[in-house]
Order: sequence, then structure tokens, then C-alpha cells
Amino acid sequence: MQGFRLQNGMLLGAASAATQIEGGDRNNSWYDWYKRGKIKDGSDPAVTTEHYARFREDAQLMQELGLQTYRFGIEWSRLEPAPGRFDEAATAHYREEIQDMLSRGIKPLLTLHHFTNPMWFENMGAFTKRENDQYFLAFVEYAVKSFGDLVSEYITVNEPNVYALGGYMTGEWPPGVRSFGLYRKALTRMAALHIQSYALIHGVRASMGYDDTKVSFANHLRVFQPKNPRNPWHRFCTWFSEKSFQGAATRAMCKGEATFPLCKDPAIRPGEWCDFLAVNYYSRSTIHRLSSDFAKGVPVNDLGWEIYPQGIAEVAHYAYALLPRPIYITENGTCDNADAFRARYIYEHLKALCESGLPVERYYHWCFCDNFEWLEGGSARFGLVHTDYATQKRTVKKSGRFYSEIIRNQGVTEDMYAAYCQVEYNRNEA
Ligand code: BGC
Repeated sequence: MQGFRLQNGMLLGAASAATQIEGGDRNNSWYDWYKRGKIKDGSDPAVTTEHYARFREDAQLMQELGLQTYRFGIEWSRLEPAPGRFDEAATAHYREEIQDMLSRGIKPLLTLHHFTNPMWFENMGAFTKRENDQYFLAFVEYAVKSFGDLVSEYITVNEPNVYALGGYMTGEWPPGVRSFGLYRKALTRMAALHIQSYALIHGVRASMGYDDTKVSFANHLRVFQPKNPRNPWHRFCTWFSEKSFQGAATRAMCKGEATFPLCKDPAIRPGEWCDFLAVNYYSRSTIHRLSSDFAKGVPVNDLGWEIYPQGIAEVAHYAYALLPRPIYITENGTCDNADAFRARYIYEHLKALCESGLPVERYYHWCFCDNFEWLEGGSARFGLVHTDYATQKRTVKKSGRFYSEIIRNQGVTEDMYAAYCQVEYNRNEA
């Protein structure tokens, strides 16, 4: 028998990031990356879904679909176009956007940093230098003072491990560096800044008279498994990859314990630095060398990433064992350009979560509208809603209708399963 009920009180929504949807900003590191010809299909992040101008239309569609909460980002380079110079028009814009969201009964979860830096910050070495901490902290303080009366829940930084890996290890992302030393530094600074921001955000909102502040960081967690569990080299590489990518950073940012590859830092001090566990989950890595691969024959999405639904519960258990806090799945989704299997993907991941026995309070599907998928540009579609980039027309996909029905019914019935989920996944032939 197929189907499940949502856990009591669990809220469902969608997640996004400013650069991926807004358009119009040319003062950031990803626009620069585009100008340097690095986006595979040539998509321009200064266009993408034009959400900055169309936020009401998008929020109205979210409301129509019944979304209860929305994780979104603010663009630092818009709010602070030059060091110390904050922009009133951009601030007013975001206040309007948040007020609109609230008026529709959609609860906001605000991300302060999601991969993109203002060019002035990028050019001074971004998160690789301790002396730059002050700039990020000043921005955080400004943002919380500006939006703190409207927003009680914050994500300090999104996926520090993915940011540091892409920018400083593989060099595929801005600033295009390949250095394990700088990877360590970037990860260390992000951890140190999360902890400092945690205290700062609580302090600022307390001084505004609020006691309902919640702060976390969005942690990209993968399942790691050795290709051959009996092979000691595969086991060693699995252990090393897990620790370097997520294990050490998770301990540092949840509990303030800095271990290799993070560097010791006075700001990384023992404590409990998350009010909820914000987990971004996409896939499982199968390891036989010091890099990440996918096992042969497993179900995969259009980017070749393994679809491993049980993993969402496994990583949630992993985080919860370290720090028992309410769980927010702050991202989960898949690249399915034809929207052929997204509904099944949603069904299986949500079911695994609801049967995990863990206190899962939120699920944010990545993402609402198809958008600028970093290196892949517009060619990789993750949305519940189709974006026609030529006309900017939004069309709710079949998976979007399914998601809306899940919220309305507070679960999936057998009939819904039959109508939406009986599809096959593609398999990894590589
Ligand atoms: C990121 C998103 C991205 C998604 C899909 C996550 O790692 O936070 O910005 O679009 O994965 O690749």
C-alpha cells in the first residue's frame, strides 16, 4: 500500500537564492563569472527569472499552490554596493517583498549568503582572510536591523562546503582557484562567521525586543559509501572525503569544534550554534578514489546524480545525532528537465522523512521556478514551475500540482500515488 501522512505541524514550502532568480544585478561574483564565459550554456544571471521585478506574481503563484513557507535570499551586492554604503532602495524593495509574502500567510526563512559575493568583497579575497570578517558581520548586522521586525528565522551561510569546494578546490566556480590550503581557509572562515553571526543575529533581535529568533546554516549533506566496502583504499577515501567535505565543517558549525581540514580559529569555540538543523540533501556519493562518483546502475537525474531517497533520512539522523534540534530540510529537489519523475522523487523523499521518527518541522523543495542553475545556467531545470525564459511565463508543472495536493491533503493518498508517481527513473550506465 502506497501513501503517507505528513508529520503534525510540518510546513512545506520552496527554497531559492537571490542570484539564481532575481536578475538585474551586475555587481556580483557570478555575473563576473558569466562575463568570463564560464556558464556552460551562456545563460546570463542578470536576466534569469526576473524575480526582482516579478516577486508579487511569483508570491501569488506560491499562495495559489498553498505554499506555507518560503526560503529566499537577499543579494548582498545590491544592499551594499560598496563597502559601508548601504542602499536604501534595495532595502525598501526587500521589505516590500517580505511584507507581501507575510500578507499571503507565507512564513519567510531568510538566507544571508548564498554563494555570491559583491565584487568589492570578492576582490579583497572574500572568505579566505580573517581581516575580511568585519565586512560580512557589518552586512549581517545591517540586514537583521533592516528586516528583523519582519523575519525571525535566518540562515547565515548556504553550503559553505560546496562554496569552498567549487571556488577553491575544483576551481570551477568563482574565483576559480585550485588550492587545498585556500579551501581550508574558506571553510574555516565560513564556520567562524556562522558562529559570530549566530551571536550577532540573536543580539540584534534581542535588542529590538524579540525572543523568537532562530538561526542556523544550510548544510549540504551527502551520503558517502565506499564502492567496495571490503577494499581498504575505498574505505579510506570515503572516510577522508566525508570528513573533508562535510564531517569537520558540520562539527565546527554546530558545536564549535575545529578539526582538520579546518584550521584552529578563536571564533570557532565550543557551544551549540544552531537553533534548528538546516539540511540540504540531493544525493549519495560512491567512492573509490579522492573524488566523488556515482555507482553503476543506480537511478539518476538529468545531471547524472544518484536518486537515493532513503539518504534524506540518513543525513537527518546524522545531523540529529550530533545536535538534537528540530530539522528543517532547507533544500531537496532534482534536475528533471521534462518533469518526468519529479513527483515520484518528492513522494519518496518526503515519505522517508515522515517515517524517520525525527522531528522534521519544515521541507523546502528546491526550487519554485526553474532558474539560473550556476554553471549549468538555464539548461538544468529544478522547478515545480516551468520558466519560459523567452517570455518569462510561469507554468505549473505536474509535479507542482502534486506538491500542492500534498499540502492540501497533508499527505499522499493511494489515488495520488497512482496519478503522479508510477514512473521509472533513468539508470546510471557509466
Ligand atoms: C544549492 C543551490 C543549487 C542546488 C541544485 C544546492 O547545492 O544550494 O543553489 O541550485 O544545489 O544544484
